[in-house]
Amino acid sequence: MVSTAQIKPVTTLTAFASSDEFDPKLQSFLHEACSQLCKWLGDASNRGPLPLGISFPNRVAPNQHGLSADELLGQLRLIMEGSYQPSHPGALAHLDPPPLTACIASELICAGLNNNLLAEELSPSLSRLERDLCRWFANCLGLPSTSSGVAASGGSLSNLMALVVARYQAGLNSDPKAVVIASADAHISFVKAIRVMGLMDDALVMVPTDANGIILLDELDNIFNELNKKGRKCIAVVATAGTTTRGAIDPLQDLSAYCSGKGVWLHVDAAIGGVFALSEATSSLVSGISKADSVTLNPQKVLGIPKTSSLLLVAQSIHLKQAFSTGLPYMEPAWGEAHGGEMGLQGSRAAEVLKLWLGLMQLGDEGISELLERAIKRRCYLEEKLDSLKFNIVSGPLHLISFSPKGIDRNEASKWSASTRKSLLENNIMLSRPFYQDRYYLKVVLGNPHTTTAHLDKLTELLGQSLVE
Ligand SMILES: Cc1ncc(COP(=O)(O)O)c(C=O)c1O
Repeated sequence: MVSTAQIKPVTTLTAFASSDEFDPKLQSFLHEACSQLCKWLGDASNRGPLPLGISFPNRVAPNQHGLSADELLGQLRLIMEGSYQPSHPGALAHLDPPPLTACIASELICAGLNNNLLAEELSPSLSRLERDLCRWFANCLGLPSTSSGVAASGGSLSNLMALVVARYQAGLNSDPKAVVIASADAHISFVKAIRVMGLMDDALVMVPTDANGIILLDELDNIFNELNKKGRKCIAVVATAGTTTRGAIDPLQDLSAYCSGKGVWLHVDAAIGGVFALSEATSSLVSGISKADSVTLNPQKVLGIPKTSSLLLVAQSIHLKQAFSTGLPYMEPAWGEAHGGEMGLQGSRAAEVLKLWLGLMQLGDEGISELLERAIKRRCYLEEKLDSLKFNIVSGPLHLISFSPKGIDRNEASKWSASTRKSLLENNIMLSRPFYQDRYYLKVVLGNPHTTTAHLDKLTELLGQSLVE
């Protein structure tokens, strides 16, 4: 047993900051850590998107004695050396743009504050910020004044929560035969959601898409009616605003009319496309989103908000509470609408809204529009440069494009995509390799603000060479 006499106050620098006075050692430690980070960011173009090897500390278990500040900084350097570098202009593979500078600072502050969005008393100003920011987003999307939302760690969790809310409202909580209908191009997080919700393996019903990757409404109607005849009730229809491989947007107006006619919940997975509603120049791309019952929105994917940053917005605030509120018997009552921990699945969670809010404040309306428009312009530029006679190109109105050579079979497409990805990486350009429909494609995500037309010219040149090799 530890006697109280043995407990000494922690006075060393690195464990806890002094609660009595300004701590200059902490300041210089943070200063050094920030310098290291700035060097890593500033050196991005001299390296590649991927590190040459995975540098990793040789032990993960703590030593008997804690490490000094310098040793800790050394450990951080090792991790940084082995990290993916989203700030490299050739980092074009995924929906992971470089972080906004204001967000880097807010993440540091967030860790220092160590507030908890579980309950208001653990995050007085930040709980309010989350509520207000969700309402602001809902307003930008044109959702009704009754709407609200909650932050979640990622789009997958936002989608899962949306379906849980929809099922509750449909009164289908105890119906394992209930289904969710989505397009064949919907994100795989719905497969997970179905499993977690204890639904049957075939509960995610995929509607075919047209040549543009958009859900076929007639097929949706046929499938819906067939399921109905079999007694399979529908929890929700999912529309995607920005599909993962090509950025296609389902017809949101038509789908909302269809769903309200059938009395079915419409969830819009706008993880990728939702933020395009924030700019006047691009908002028409997602028109109709205002009629959704729930929306997933992931500012981490395009706007440069560090991960994770995802919101679930609902048209009726009460729906979140009905699905998730349990009472928090170990907390004081909420001052606002409800505790953060009663608006979603997560309990304790970090104040992800801080970086989201500060990032938006840093960009301003002009900066947001510029980021979104430039991302689309880069996609248009690349699409024009790619030889459509030689490549089967799939894209949509956003900043994603995928392609595979024409005139080859799926095995050859597999080999081409793997070898081309490898040779592009040798030239410090990183693309991803999604399997789409019947074959592998290469995919380019054009949200990286450091990517110039010169980089895209180089990419097209290398892609051209890949066909003659
Ligand atoms: C359309 C779409 N929805 C949801 C998700 C899941 O987001 P997350 O990886 O943040 O869970 C993705 C991820 O790429 C996506 O493309």
